[in-house]
Amino acid sequence: MLYQPEKILVTGGAGFIGANFVHFWLQNYPESRVVVLDALTYAGNRANLLSVEGQENFRFVHGDIRDYDLVLSLLRDEQIDTLVHFAAESHVDRSIHGPDEFIDTNVIGTHVLLKAAKAVWLEDPLAPRPHRFHHVSTDEVYGTLQPNEQPFTETNQYAPNSPYAASKASSDHLVRAYHETYGLQVTTSNCSNNYGPYQFPEKLIPLIIGNILDGRPLPIYGDGLQIRDWLYVDDHNRGIDLVIRQGKVGETYNIGGNNEWTNIAIVKLICNLLDEKFAGNEAMKKRFPQAPQVSGGKGEGLITHVKDRLGHDRRYAINAAKITTELGYSPMESFETGIRKTLDWYLDNEGWWRAVMDGSYRQWVELNYSQGH
Ligand code: NAD
Ligand code: TYD
Repeated sequence: MLYQPEKILVTGGAGFIGANFVHFWLQNYPESRVVVLDALTYAGNRANLLSVEGQENFRFVHGDIRDYDLVLSLLRDEQIDTLVHFAAESHVDRSIHGPDEFIDTNVIGTHVLLKAAKAVWLEDPLAPRPHRFHHVSTDEVYGTLQPNEQPFTETNQYAPNSPYAASKASSDHLVRAYHETYGLQVTTSNCSNNYGPYQFPEKLIPLIIGNILDGRPLPIYGDGLQIRDWLYVDDHNRGIDLVIRQGKVGETYNIGGNNEWTNIAIVKLICNLLDEKFAGNEAMKKRFPQAPQVSGGKGEGLITHVKDRLGHDRRYAINAAKITTELGYSPMESFETGIRKTLDWYLDNEGWWRAVMDGSYRQWVELNYSQGH
Protein backbone atom coordinates (compact mmCIF):
# COMPACT_ATOMS: atom_id res chain seq x y z
CA MET A 1 0.00 0.00 0.00
CA LEU A 2 1.27 3.45 -0.87
CA TYR A 3 2.10 5.75 2.04
CA GLN A 4 2.42 9.45 1.21
CA PRO A 5 4.26 11.60 3.76
CA GLU A 6 2.92 15.13 4.18
CA LYS A 7 4.97 16.69 6.96
CA ILE A 8 8.50 15.40 7.32
CA LEU A 9 11.12 15.91 9.99
CA VAL A 10 14.58 15.30 8.50
CA THR A 11 17.32 14.89 11.11
CA GLY A 12 20.85 15.62 9.88
CA GLY A 13 19.46 17.49 6.87
CA ALA A 14 22.44 19.84 6.74
CA GLY A 15 24.88 16.97 6.19
CA PHE A 16 25.88 15.25 2.97
CA ILE A 17 23.09 12.75 2.28
CA GLY A 18 20.45 14.61 4.30
CA ALA A 19 20.90 17.86 2.33
CA ASN A 20 20.71 15.97 -0.96
CA PHE A 21 17.56 14.26 0.37
CA VAL A 22 15.92 17.60 1.19
CA HIS A 23 16.63 18.89 -2.34
CA PHE A 24 15.40 15.62 -3.84
CA TRP A 25 12.24 15.58 -1.75
CA LEU A 26 11.17 19.17 -2.30
CA GLN A 27 11.76 18.83 -6.03
CA ASN A 28 9.67 15.68 -6.26
CA TYR A 29 7.01 16.51 -3.64
CA PRO A 30 6.71 20.31 -3.57
CA GLU A 31 3.35 20.06 -1.82
CA SER A 32 4.87 18.48 1.29
CA ARG A 33 6.47 20.31 4.24
CA VAL A 34 10.05 19.61 5.32
CA VAL A 35 11.49 20.56 8.72
CA VAL A 36 15.23 19.95 9.18
CA LEU A 37 16.66 19.36 12.66
CA ASP A 38 20.45 19.59 12.66
CA ALA A 39 23.05 20.36 15.32
CA LEU A 40 25.47 21.79 12.72
CA THR A 41 28.48 19.79 13.84
CA TYR A 42 31.68 20.07 11.79
CA ALA A 43 29.90 17.94 9.13
CA GLY A 44 26.72 19.99 8.96
CA ASN A 45 26.58 23.12 6.90
CA ARG A 46 23.57 25.38 6.51
CA ALA A 47 24.90 26.53 3.16
CA ASN A 48 24.01 23.05 1.87
CA LEU A 49 20.36 24.09 2.12
CA LEU A 50 20.64 27.59 0.66
CA SER A 51 18.55 26.78 -2.39
CA VAL A 52 15.51 25.88 -0.25
CA GLU A 53 15.93 28.42 2.58
CA GLY A 54 13.08 30.92 2.45
CA GLN A 55 10.62 28.50 0.83
CA GLU A 56 7.33 28.45 2.71
CA ASN A 57 7.25 24.68 2.99
CA PHE A 58 10.76 24.50 4.51
CA ARG A 59 12.02 25.22 8.02
CA PHE A 60 15.48 24.82 9.52
CA VAL A 61 15.83 24.17 13.25
CA HIS A 62 19.27 24.34 14.82
CA GLY A 63 19.16 21.71 17.55
CA ASP A 64 20.26 18.34 18.82
CA ILE A 65 18.46 15.04 18.33
CA ARG A 66 19.37 14.25 21.96
CA ASP A 67 17.13 17.12 23.14
CA TYR A 68 13.92 15.20 23.98
CA ASP A 69 11.78 18.26 24.70
CA LEU A 70 12.78 19.91 21.44
CA VAL A 71 12.07 16.78 19.37
CA LEU A 72 8.75 16.27 21.14
CA SER A 73 7.60 19.83 20.53
CA LEU A 74 8.69 19.72 16.89
CA LEU A 75 6.75 16.53 16.25
CA ARG A 76 3.68 18.02 17.97
CA ASP A 77 3.76 21.63 16.78
CA GLU A 78 4.59 20.77 13.20
CA GLN A 79 2.16 17.82 13.13
CA ILE A 80 4.95 15.67 11.69
CA ASP A 81 3.79 12.35 10.22
CA THR A 82 7.17 11.10 8.94
CA LEU A 83 10.62 11.24 10.50
CA VAL A 84 13.60 10.49 8.25
CA HIS A 85 16.64 9.98 10.43
CA PHE A 86 20.04 10.82 8.90
CA ALA A 87 21.71 12.60 11.84
CA ALA A 88 24.82 10.75 12.94
CA GLU A 89 28.50 10.90 13.50
CA SER A 90 29.51 9.23 10.26
CA HIS A 91 33.29 9.02 9.81
CA VAL A 92 34.97 5.71 10.70
CA ASP A 93 38.40 7.28 11.32
CA ARG A 94 36.92 9.72 13.84
CA SER A 95 35.14 6.86 15.59
CA ILE A 96 38.47 5.08 16.03
CA HIS A 97 40.08 8.12 17.62
CA GLY A 98 37.05 9.15 19.71
CA PRO A 99 34.13 6.73 19.97
CA ASP A 100 32.16 8.57 22.70
CA GLU A 101 30.44 11.04 20.41
CA PHE A 102 29.35 8.14 18.20
CA ILE A 103 27.64 6.38 21.06
CA ASP A 104 26.04 9.62 22.27
CA THR A 105 24.65 10.72 18.92
CA ASN A 106 24.08 7.48 17.06
CA VAL A 107 22.77 5.35 19.91
CA ILE A 108 21.39 7.74 22.56
CA GLY A 109 20.26 10.25 19.91
CA THR A 110 18.35 7.62 17.96
CA HIS A 111 16.74 6.42 21.16
CA VAL A 112 15.60 9.95 22.05
CA LEU A 113 13.93 10.23 18.62
CA LEU A 114 12.23 6.85 19.05
CA LYS A 115 10.97 7.77 22.53
CA ALA A 116 9.58 11.09 21.30
CA ALA A 117 7.98 9.46 18.24
CA LYS A 118 6.36 6.84 20.47
CA ALA A 119 5.04 9.51 22.85
CA VAL A 120 3.53 11.59 20.07
CA TRP A 121 2.43 9.00 17.53
CA LEU A 122 1.34 6.15 19.79
CA GLU A 123 0.25 7.84 23.00
CA ASP A 124 -1.22 11.18 21.92
CA PRO A 125 -4.84 10.90 20.69
CA LEU A 126 -4.45 14.05 18.58
CA ALA A 127 -1.43 12.68 16.71
CA PRO A 128 -1.48 12.27 12.92
CA ARG A 129 -2.09 8.72 11.78
CA PRO A 130 -0.61 6.88 10.03
CA HIS A 131 3.01 7.73 10.72
CA ARG A 132 6.45 6.51 9.65
CA PHE A 133 9.92 6.50 11.25
CA HIS A 134 12.55 5.81 8.57
CA HIS A 135 16.02 5.02 9.85
CA VAL A 136 18.98 5.55 7.51
CA SER A 137 21.71 3.03 8.18
CA THR A 138 24.77 1.50 6.58
CA ASP A 139 26.07 -1.78 5.16
CA GLU A 140 28.97 -1.51 7.63
CA VAL A 141 26.77 -3.16 10.30
CA TYR A 142 27.33 -6.48 8.51
CA GLY A 143 31.11 -6.34 8.98
CA THR A 144 33.58 -7.39 6.34
CA LEU A 145 33.46 -9.83 3.39
CA GLN A 146 36.15 -12.12 2.00
CA PRO A 147 36.74 -11.79 -1.78
CA ASN A 148 34.79 -14.98 -2.51
CA GLU A 149 31.83 -14.27 -0.19
CA GLN A 150 28.37 -13.30 -1.42
CA PRO A 151 27.28 -9.64 -0.99
CA PHE A 152 25.31 -8.74 2.16
CA THR A 153 21.60 -9.54 2.23
CA GLU A 154 19.15 -8.28 4.85
CA THR A 155 19.43 -11.59 6.70
CA ASN A 156 23.20 -11.48 7.15
CA GLN A 157 24.24 -11.58 10.77
CA TYR A 158 25.34 -8.22 12.19
CA ALA A 159 29.12 -8.17 12.82
CA PRO A 160 30.21 -4.52 13.10
CA ASN A 161 33.95 -3.91 13.38
CA SER A 162 34.45 -0.17 13.96
CA PRO A 163 32.92 1.89 16.76
CA TYR A 164 30.97 3.74 14.04
CA ALA A 165 29.54 0.50 12.64
CA ALA A 166 28.77 -0.79 16.14
CA SER A 167 26.92 2.42 17.02
CA LYS A 168 24.86 2.18 13.83
CA ALA A 169 24.14 -1.51 14.47
CA SER A 170 22.98 -0.62 17.94
CA SER A 171 20.65 2.08 16.59
CA ASP A 172 19.23 -0.38 14.03
CA HIS A 173 18.37 -2.79 16.87
CA LEU A 174 16.64 -0.04 18.85
CA VAL A 175 14.54 0.91 15.82
CA ARG A 176 13.55 -2.72 15.35
CA ALA A 177 12.73 -3.09 19.05
CA TYR A 178 10.42 -0.05 19.02
CA HIS A 179 8.49 -1.69 16.20
CA GLU A 180 8.36 -5.16 17.74
CA THR A 181 7.59 -3.94 21.27
CA TYR A 182 5.44 -0.85 20.83
CA GLY A 183 4.22 -1.09 17.25
CA LEU A 184 6.01 2.05 16.03
CA GLN A 185 5.77 2.06 12.22
CA VAL A 186 9.40 1.89 11.23
CA THR A 187 11.44 1.09 8.14
CA THR A 188 15.23 0.86 7.89
CA SER A 189 17.57 1.04 4.92
CA ASN A 190 21.20 -0.13 4.94
CA CYS A 191 23.16 1.49 2.15
CA SER A 192 26.63 1.13 0.71
CA ASN A 193 29.20 3.97 0.33
CA ASN A 194 27.71 7.15 -1.12
CA TYR A 195 29.40 9.81 -3.22
CA GLY A 196 28.24 13.06 -4.82
CA PRO A 197 27.78 16.80 -4.11
CA TYR A 198 28.16 18.20 -0.56
CA GLN A 199 30.17 15.26 0.79
CA PHE A 200 32.53 16.51 3.49
CA PRO A 201 36.12 16.28 2.21
CA GLU A 202 37.30 13.86 4.87
CA LYS A 203 35.70 10.97 2.95
CA LEU A 204 37.73 9.27 0.25
CA ILE A 205 36.37 10.72 -3.01
CA PRO A 206 36.16 14.45 -2.16
CA LEU A 207 39.41 14.22 -0.17
CA ILE A 208 41.24 12.89 -3.21
CA ILE A 209 39.75 15.54 -5.53
CA GLY A 210 40.80 18.41 -3.23
CA ASN A 211 44.24 16.98 -2.58
CA ILE A 212 45.02 16.61 -6.29
CA LEU A 213 43.88 20.16 -7.00
CA ASP A 214 46.08 21.47 -4.17
CA GLY A 215 49.03 19.18 -4.90
CA ARG A 216 48.83 17.36 -1.56
CA PRO A 217 49.64 13.64 -1.03
CA LEU A 218 46.84 11.15 -1.70
CA PRO A 219 46.81 8.92 1.41
CA ILE A 220 46.06 5.28 0.60
CA TYR A 221 45.51 3.20 3.72
CA GLY A 222 47.54 -0.04 3.58
CA ASP A 223 47.67 -1.72 0.18
CA GLY A 224 44.61 0.14 -1.15
CA LEU A 225 42.98 -3.11 -2.23
CA GLN A 226 40.04 -2.75 0.15
CA ILE A 227 36.74 -2.84 -1.73
CA ARG A 228 33.68 -0.61 -1.37
CA ASP A 229 30.37 -0.66 -3.27
CA TRP A 230 29.73 2.93 -4.43
CA LEU A 231 26.34 4.54 -5.03
CA TYR A 232 25.54 8.04 -6.25
CA VAL A 233 23.77 9.94 -3.46
CA ASP A 234 20.56 10.64 -5.43
CA ASP A 235 20.21 6.92 -6.09
CA HIS A 236 20.37 6.32 -2.33
CA ASN A 237 17.68 8.93 -1.78
CA ARG A 238 15.47 7.45 -4.49
CA GLY A 239 15.75 4.15 -2.63
CA ILE A 240 14.78 5.79 0.68
CA ASP A 241 11.81 7.43 -1.03
CA LEU A 242 10.63 4.03 -2.32
CA VAL A 243 11.05 2.40 1.09
CA ILE A 244 9.12 5.16 2.87
CA ARG A 245 6.22 5.18 0.42
CA GLN A 246 6.03 1.52 -0.60
CA GLY A 247 8.14 -0.45 1.85
CA LYS A 248 6.65 -2.85 4.36
CA VAL A 249 6.50 -1.54 7.92
CA GLY A 250 9.00 -3.29 10.19
CA GLU A 251 11.23 -4.34 7.28
CA THR A 252 14.80 -3.46 6.40
CA TYR A 253 16.02 -2.92 2.82
CA ASN A 254 19.58 -2.97 1.52
CA ILE A 255 20.38 -0.26 -1.05
CA GLY A 256 23.45 -0.60 -3.27
CA GLY A 257 24.86 0.11 -6.67
CA ASN A 258 26.31 -3.26 -7.65
CA ASN A 259 29.47 -1.26 -8.17
CA GLU A 260 32.52 -2.67 -6.35
CA TRP A 261 35.84 -0.85 -6.65
CA THR A 262 39.15 -1.11 -4.86
CA ASN A 263 40.21 2.15 -3.24
CA ILE A 264 43.36 2.37 -5.33
CA ALA A 265 41.39 1.94 -8.57
CA ILE A 266 39.04 4.78 -7.61
CA VAL A 267 41.94 7.05 -6.73
CA LYS A 268 43.64 6.30 -10.06
CA LEU A 269 40.38 6.91 -11.92
CA ILE A 270 39.99 10.35 -10.31
CA CYS A 271 43.64 11.11 -11.10
CA ASN A 272 43.13 10.23 -14.76
CA LEU A 273 39.91 12.22 -15.08
CA LEU A 274 41.59 15.29 -13.60
CA ASP A 275 44.69 14.82 -15.81
CA GLU A 276 42.29 14.98 -18.79
CA LYS A 277 40.63 18.13 -17.45
CA PHE A 278 43.95 19.91 -16.98
CA ALA A 279 45.28 18.97 -20.44
CA GLY A 280 45.51 22.18 -22.49
CA ASN A 281 43.28 24.04 -20.03
CA GLU A 282 45.21 27.17 -19.07
CA ALA A 283 42.37 28.64 -16.99
CA MET A 284 42.29 25.54 -14.82
CA LYS A 285 46.06 25.59 -14.40
CA LYS A 286 45.81 29.21 -13.23
CA ARG A 287 43.08 28.32 -10.74
CA PHE A 288 44.99 25.42 -9.20
CA PRO A 289 48.69 26.33 -9.43
CA GLN A 290 49.76 23.65 -6.93
CA ALA A 291 48.28 20.76 -8.95
CA PRO A 292 51.01 18.46 -10.33
CA GLN A 293 49.55 18.75 -13.86
CA VAL A 294 50.60 22.42 -13.92
CA SER A 295 54.27 21.44 -13.92
CA GLY A 296 53.88 18.52 -16.34
CA GLY A 297 53.21 15.87 -13.68
CA LYS A 298 50.26 13.55 -13.15
CA GLY A 299 47.79 13.11 -10.30
CA GLU A 300 49.03 9.57 -9.67
CA GLY A 301 52.43 10.96 -8.68
CA LEU A 302 50.80 12.13 -5.42
CA ILE A 303 49.72 8.62 -4.33
CA THR A 304 51.23 7.84 -0.93
CA HIS A 305 50.68 4.58 0.93
CA VAL A 306 50.22 5.25 4.65
CA LYS A 307 49.61 3.11 7.73
CA ASP A 308 46.40 1.10 7.49
CA ARG A 309 43.23 2.03 9.40
CA LEU A 310 42.79 -0.04 12.59
CA GLY A 311 40.30 -2.89 12.10
CA HIS A 312 39.97 -1.88 8.44
CA ASP A 313 37.11 -3.78 6.77
CA ARG A 314 38.41 -5.44 3.61
CA ARG A 315 35.28 -5.52 1.52
CA TYR A 316 31.67 -4.34 1.54
CA ALA A 317 29.18 -5.36 -1.14
CA ILE A 318 25.41 -5.09 -1.19
CA ASN A 319 22.85 -7.51 -2.56
CA ALA A 320 19.97 -5.20 -3.44
CA ALA A 321 17.65 -7.94 -4.75
CA LYS A 322 14.95 -7.29 -2.13
CA ILE A 323 14.39 -3.59 -2.91
CA THR A 324 14.77 -4.35 -6.63
CA THR A 325 12.20 -7.11 -6.80
CA GLU A 326 9.76 -5.86 -4.13
CA LEU A 327 9.87 -2.12 -4.85
CA GLY A 328 11.20 -1.93 -8.43
CA TYR A 329 14.41 -0.11 -7.44
CA SER A 330 17.40 0.34 -9.70
CA PRO A 331 20.11 3.02 -9.65
CA MET A 332 19.86 5.62 -12.42
CA GLU A 333 23.44 6.82 -12.35
CA SER A 334 26.32 4.69 -13.66
CA PHE A 335 29.66 5.12 -11.90
CA GLU A 336 31.08 6.63 -15.08
CA THR A 337 28.44 9.39 -15.15
CA GLY A 338 28.20 9.79 -11.38
CA ILE A 339 31.90 10.31 -10.80
CA ARG A 340 32.12 12.85 -13.65
CA LYS A 341 29.14 14.77 -12.21
CA THR A 342 30.77 14.72 -8.80
CA LEU A 343 34.10 15.95 -10.13
CA ASP A 344 32.37 18.80 -11.98
CA TRP A 345 30.43 19.72 -8.84
CA TYR A 346 33.63 20.02 -6.77
CA LEU A 347 35.27 22.06 -9.54
CA ASP A 348 32.25 24.37 -9.72
CA ASN A 349 31.97 24.67 -5.93
CA GLU A 350 35.52 25.31 -4.86
CA GLY A 351 34.32 27.96 -2.39
CA TRP A 352 32.16 25.38 -0.60
CA TRP A 353 34.84 22.77 0.01
CA ARG A 354 37.48 25.31 0.96
CA ALA A 355 35.13 26.82 3.53
CA VAL A 356 34.10 23.55 5.14
CA MET A 357 37.73 22.45 5.30
CA ASP A 358 38.82 25.54 7.28
CA GLY A 359 38.87 25.27 11.03
CA SER A 360 37.91 22.16 12.93
CA TYR A 361 38.59 19.68 10.15
CA ARG A 362 42.17 20.81 9.56
CA GLN A 363 42.89 20.96 13.30
CA TRP A 364 41.52 17.45 13.74
CA VAL A 365 43.68 16.09 10.92
CA GLU A 366 46.77 17.73 12.38
CA LEU A 367 46.03 16.39 15.85
CA ASN A 368 45.33 12.81 14.84
CA TYR A 369 47.45 12.33 11.77
CA SER A 370 50.71 13.97 12.76
CA GLN A 371 52.05 10.52 13.62
CA GLY A 372 51.41 7.38 11.63
CA HIS A 373 49.18 8.44 8.76
P1 NAD B 1 27.36 13.59 7.53
O1 NAD B 1 28.39 13.38 8.58
O2 NAD B 1 27.72 14.28 6.26
O3 NAD B 1 26.14 14.42 8.15
C1 NAD B 1 25.62 14.17 9.42
C2 NAD B 1 24.69 15.33 9.79
O4 NAD B 1 24.14 15.05 11.09
C3 NAD B 1 25.41 16.68 9.91
O5 NAD B 1 24.65 17.69 9.29
C4 NAD B 1 25.49 16.91 11.40
O6 NAD B 1 25.50 18.30 11.76
C5 NAD B 1 24.23 16.21 11.90
N1 NAD B 1 24.32 15.79 13.30
C6 NAD B 1 25.34 15.11 13.90
N2 NAD B 1 25.07 14.94 15.21
C7 NAD B 1 23.85 15.50 15.43
C8 NAD B 1 23.02 15.62 16.58
N3 NAD B 1 23.40 15.14 17.78
N4 NAD B 1 21.83 16.24 16.45
C9 NAD B 1 21.43 16.74 15.26
N5 NAD B 1 22.18 16.67 14.15
C10 NAD B 1 23.38 16.05 14.23
O7 NAD B 1 26.75 12.17 7.27
P2 NAD B 1 26.21 11.52 5.91
O8 NAD B 1 27.32 10.93 5.16
O9 NAD B 1 25.29 12.48 5.26
O10 NAD B 1 25.36 10.30 6.50
C11 NAD B 1 23.98 10.47 6.85
C12 NAD B 1 23.44 9.15 7.38
O11 NAD B 1 23.59 8.14 6.40
C13 NAD B 1 24.18 8.64 8.62
O12 NAD B 1 23.23 8.10 9.51
C14 NAD B 1 25.10 7.55 8.08
O13 NAD B 1 25.33 6.57 9.05
C15 NAD B 1 24.27 7.02 6.93
N6 NAD B 1 25.03 6.43 5.81
C16 NAD B 1 26.06 7.13 5.22
C17 NAD B 1 26.73 6.57 4.13
C18 NAD B 1 27.84 7.33 3.43
O14 NAD B 1 28.49 6.77 2.54
N7 NAD B 1 28.10 8.57 3.75
C19 NAD B 1 26.37 5.31 3.66
C20 NAD B 1 25.32 4.62 4.28
C21 NAD B 1 24.65 5.21 5.35
P1 TYD C 1 35.65 6.48 3.70
O1 TYD C 1 35.32 7.44 2.62
O2 TYD C 1 36.15 7.01 5.01
O3 TYD C 1 34.35 5.58 3.92
P2 TYD C 1 34.16 4.20 4.79
O4 TYD C 1 35.26 4.08 5.75
O5 TYD C 1 32.85 4.46 5.43
O6 TYD C 1 34.12 3.10 3.77
O7 TYD C 1 36.73 5.46 3.16
C1 TYD C 1 36.50 4.69 2.01
C2 TYD C 1 37.66 3.74 1.85
O8 TYD C 1 38.83 4.51 1.53
C3 TYD C 1 38.00 2.99 3.12
O9 TYD C 1 38.43 1.66 2.76
C4 TYD C 1 39.16 3.76 3.72
C5 TYD C 1 39.87 4.30 2.50
N1 TYD C 1 40.55 5.60 2.68
C6 TYD C 1 41.89 5.74 2.29
O10 TYD C 1 42.54 4.79 1.81
N2 TYD C 1 42.47 6.96 2.45
C7 TYD C 1 41.81 8.03 2.98
O11 TYD C 1 42.41 9.13 3.13
C8 TYD C 1 40.43 7.86 3.36
C9 TYD C 1 39.64 9.00 3.96
C10 TYD C 1 39.84 6.62 3.18
